Amino acid sequence: MTVYLDNAATSFPKPARVYERLREYLERYGGCPGRGGYRMAKEAEAVVADTRALLAELFSVQDPERIVFTLNATDALNMAIKGTVMPGDHVVTTVLEHNSVSRPLNRLERKGLIQVTRVGVSPEGRVDPEDIRHALTARTTLVAVIHGSNVTGALQPVEAIGPLVRQHGAWFLVDASQTAGAVPIDVERAGIDLLAFPGHKALLGLPGTGGLYVGPRVRLAPWREGGTGVLSELPLQPEMLPYALEAGSPNTLGLAGLRESLQFILQYGMSWIRTHELALTQRLLDGVNTDGRFKVYGPADSAHRVAVISLNLPGCPPEAVAERLDRAAGIAVRAGLHCAPGAHQALGTFPRGTVRISPGYFTTEEEIDACLRALQDLADDQWHSHDQPHEALLRA
Ligand SMILES: Cc1ncc(COP(=O)(O)O)c(C=O)c1O
Repeated sequence: MTVYLDNAATSFPKPARVYERLREYLERYGGCPGRGGYRMAKEAEAVVADTRALLAELFSVQDPERIVFTLNATDALNMAIKGTVMPGDHVVTTVLEHNSVSRPLNRLERKGLIQVTRVGVSPEGRVDPEDIRHALTARTTLVAVIHGSNVTGALQPVEAIGPLVRQHGAWFLVDASQTAGAVPIDVERAGIDLLAFPGHKALLGLPGTGGLYVGPRVRLAPWREGGTGVLSELPLQPEMLPYALEAGSPNTLGLAGLRESLQFILQYGMSWIRTHELALTQRLLDGVNTDGRFKVYGPADSAHRVAVISLNLPGCPPEAVAERLDRAAGIAVRAGLHCAPGAHQALGTFPRGTVRISPGYFTTEEEIDACLRALQDLADDQWHSHDQPHEALLRA
């Protein structure tokens, strides 16, 4: 049995009713939405419309048509960045961003098309909204900020950043890859113009699902052009959302799973889910902090976190820790840079990275305790395997 603690990569398992719904969908429906008047097509159309409406409810979006489905968060972030930024623009972002934000920006910057300012973080890995304010210039059109770090779990103060970005007249893009489904998000209250999210992490849906909320102030250039099933007489991609940004047959099976997982989340309530995940995170933090031999990164207080913990055992490479947890105790955690090299440069953990442990909705206290025991065993073995105890261990 695997103890799965890599929910920051993708959540596992999914709620049982998601599996049931997928099977039912494959066996009974499976038509193509918006492309036929027969019942199977209408059922598929309802899946797409319901999923949009549920996401709108979750993010307090007034018009569900402003939610556009994508393949994953990367797809949504590329769509947002490349659809808004123009030559000569200035973009403000942070050192914490995932490669799905930093790589598109880096490329545009290296081509000499845009200028980018990367705001730093506190030792706990949090951005100060004042630093964002100071980075804004007359040419700033976009501010792109990660909501929850996929390296340290640190939550960023997007509610404080949004209003100052809006006041400046720029667009605010939030990468909610680690928070959508885990932390309440109200796009209006936080002044978010573009919200990118995956369906397969804390929203408990399938890989191959994700989305982008496009606020009323933003006009995005088309991303894919092609069939929409409606307005087919037009020679160009319709300007109306969601068709302006959705073309081709959607991942209806994935959306059927996402509809079910969203209903699950809304039924149990996000505050319950967050309380559960924070309790597990705090248990893990307390365990490793009490042990004292591990270096733990990110906010000390779990209230400023999502359920993501990065740590290192001094003297033991992160990949060796992850491999040992898997081999000795069947515990699945992730080691390395987690696709966010800038975050590791800020933390001082570049280029080896960290061991990332990310509990999820279905993780139990027993699993956290098993992980703690395995970490302690590993630290004990490391101690005994040295004739001379490692310097770092002595200092701990
Ligand atoms: C913060 C962050 N942004 C973006 C992504 C990319 O998400 P996806 O795999 O859905 O494209 C991830 C995935 O780990 C992430 O953690």
